[in-house]
Amino acid sequence: MRFFQWRTGENLPVLGAGTWNMGENGARADDEVEVLKLALDLGLTLIDTAEMYGAGGAEKIVGRAAAGGRDEVFIVSKVYPHNATFDGTMAACERSLQRLATGHIDLYLLHWRGSSPLADTVEAFERLKEQGKIRHWGVSNFDTDDMEELLALPAGRNCAANQVLYNLNQRGIEWQLLPECRKREVPIMAYSPLAQGPLARHRALAPIARKHGVTPATIALAWTIRGPGVIAIPKTSDRDRMRENAAAADLILDRDDLAALDRAFPPPSRKNPLALN
Ligand SMILES: NC(=O)c1ccc[n+]([C@@H]2O[C@H](COP(=O)([O-])OP(=O)(O)OC[C@H]3O[C@@H](n4cnc5c(N)ncnc54)[C@H](OP(=O)(O)O)[C@@H]3O)[C@@H](O)[C@H]2O)c1
Repeated sequence: MRFFQWRTGENLPVLGAGTWNMGENGARADDEVEVLKLALDLGLTLIDTAEMYGAGGAEKIVGRAAAGGRDEVFIVSKVYPHNATFDGTMAACERSLQRLATGHIDLYLLHWRGSSPLADTVEAFERLKEQGKIRHWGVSNFDTDDMEELLALPAGRNCAANQVLYNLNQRGIEWQLLPECRKREVPIMAYSPLAQGPLARHRALAPIARKHGVTPATIALAWTIRGPGVIAIPKTSDRDRMRENAAAADLILDRDDLAALDRAFPPPSRKNPLALN
């Protein structure tokens, strides 16, 4: 696994595991726990979840996968915008901690912006930090203007990550959000790095995959994490695909590969609103 140094001094893996769609079906729960344990064994020690996923079911899967080795796992969870008042955030975090069967969440994100004042959510995040219930907090689906507003708040600089849609099909953040986050040392967590599956089968990736003896999914993920300050969090419930995904951490694409990918998936030529899932 490759790591990068966060401004907190901690090392974070460049690849983590997503959990959207997990925890929805009791019959699949044991398999989902096992595949996340495999992710941990392969070095994907960051697991992304949310109170939303499986209506809390995904957090229970994560809790089971992390049981026994909690200190080796970096758990990311998220509060729903409709819970993101001061009191609502405090209560949502308690419920997440129960489902995760842990005393703390490593990184707690506001899932997307809703109608609650940002200052109230940040105040709750800071209180949760003081109480040791979360170690860091951040945001998700925040565009440049949202980030400006956040960073202008008294504790706004404590924002430790912004989780956004980023993949070969959706390169919009390269225009402004990504460079600005890099400048401020706020890592980008790239969600849907396989565009929810299609990039794993994309024809344009096949020749590069053959050249490196890997699959197109591995190429798409290696591309996402090619630059500093980006963590990709692909989701899979399949053991073989988990191995393919993990292989991306060790694959460095060369200039020819990157040029071919730029031709097939052109970078942005202007600022567009942040794409969302
Ligand atoms: N903050 C947000 O608003 C937000 C939004 C969306 C997602 N997320 C987070 O980001 C994570 C990843 O995003 P995502 O789940 O939307 O999409 P994704 O990771 O781009 O793609 C997941 C899909 O691709 C398939 N897949 C995974 N690896 C594969 C491989 N090697 N070959 C072929 N198919 C493969 C999976 O199927 P199988 O499971 O059957 O392999 C699944 O259907 C989520 O799970 C969630 O944790 C956050």
